[in-house]
Amino acid sequence: MPTPHSALPIRRLTLADLTACADLAEERGWAREEHRWGLLLAAGTGYGIDAPEGKGLAAMCVTTSYGPALTTLGMMIVAGRYGRQGLGRRLLTHAMHEAGDTPFALYATAQGRPLYEQLGFTAVGDTHTVRGHFRSPEQPPAATGGTATTRPATADDLSALVRLDNEVFGIDRTHLLARLPSFTDRLRVAENGTTITGYAGIWPSTSSDVIAPLIAQDTDTAYALIRSLAAETDRSVRLDLDARHTDLLDRLKHSGLDLISSTTTMTRGIPHLPGDWTRRFAPLNLAMG
Ligand SMILES: CC(C)(COP(=O)(O)OP(=O)(O)OC[C@H]1O[C@@H](n2cnc3c(N)ncnc32)[C@H](O)[C@@H]1OP(=O)(O)O)[C@@H](O)C(=O)NCCC(=O)NCCS
Repeated sequence: MPTPHSALPIRRLTLADLTACADLAEERGWAREEHRWGLLLAAGTGYGIDAPEGKGLAAMCVTTSYGPALTTLGMMIVAGRYGRQGLGRRLLTHAMHEAGDTPFALYATAQGRPLYEQLGFTAVGDTHTVRGHFRSPEQPPAATGGTATTRPATADDLSALVRLDNEVFGIDRTHLLARLPSFTDRLRVAENGTTITGYAGIWPSTSSDVIAPLIAQDTDTAYALIRSLAAETDRSVRLDLDARHTDLLDRLKHSGLDLISSTTTMTRGIPHLPGDWTRRFAPLNLAMG
């Protein structure tokens, strides 16, 4: 007798599952993003259910632990042929159980939102994904902001960068920041005199380069970081921006970046994301926060 879907075992995913994860994402119309999967499976905890017919994964998700203060969840995907049979709920319940009592946060698609609401998550905000070939506007920099000074990050910047990130993200994530120099193609800092006022990285996705994370003291600084990173690539760039940063979204629209999708920020066990949203412009990626 075939195993009922409700009894299919859940297992931990490893880096050996990277291609299967990218295959399942692609099957649901998501980008393969193998570079991102490398980070997710190395720094996060992946859970998967093997397809009973022996071909790839039927369902998967990834959690990232920030200690007792927070766990984030992402890449929750169930193969179309197993949809609406309870696999998503089972996997999420399992991942939440494994994370213990920690608060949770995630970025939900419209399709995922009902499942998360059922399990006690509430909507606390929106994130807009914009993409396009960045072009510098005609106006002089003073009119467009972008007057902040930026430069490539060096190893000597790492401790100041971690200090700034701790303040803005609200939780120590040194374990992830230590991976940024190898995960990103380039990492830049903004500075005012000798003070680091922001930083951002750029890393390759399937059809564009993603600028993330993006932390900056204000919109001008954020824009300057984006402009300097975009100037060094011929590809289109993508950003996942907190929707409250309307000034930056407006400037990016005038620089050729269009809104392509939105997700709902949801939390469970905390009323909103920790830290300082005014300086947190973009997460490292939507699956990790
Ligand atoms: C979202 C997703 C993971 C749900 O997985 P699933 O295994 O189909 O979900 P379940 O069968 O466990 O359903 C759990 C509950 O979620 C809700 N739900 C699931 N699919 C839904 C849909 N298409 N429309 C409305 N509600 C839905 C229902 O409340 C459902 O409970 P019910 O069947 O008792 O009414 C799956 O549809 C998917 O992979 N979608 C594409 C990728 C995606 O958007 N992932 C979410 C990322 S944040």
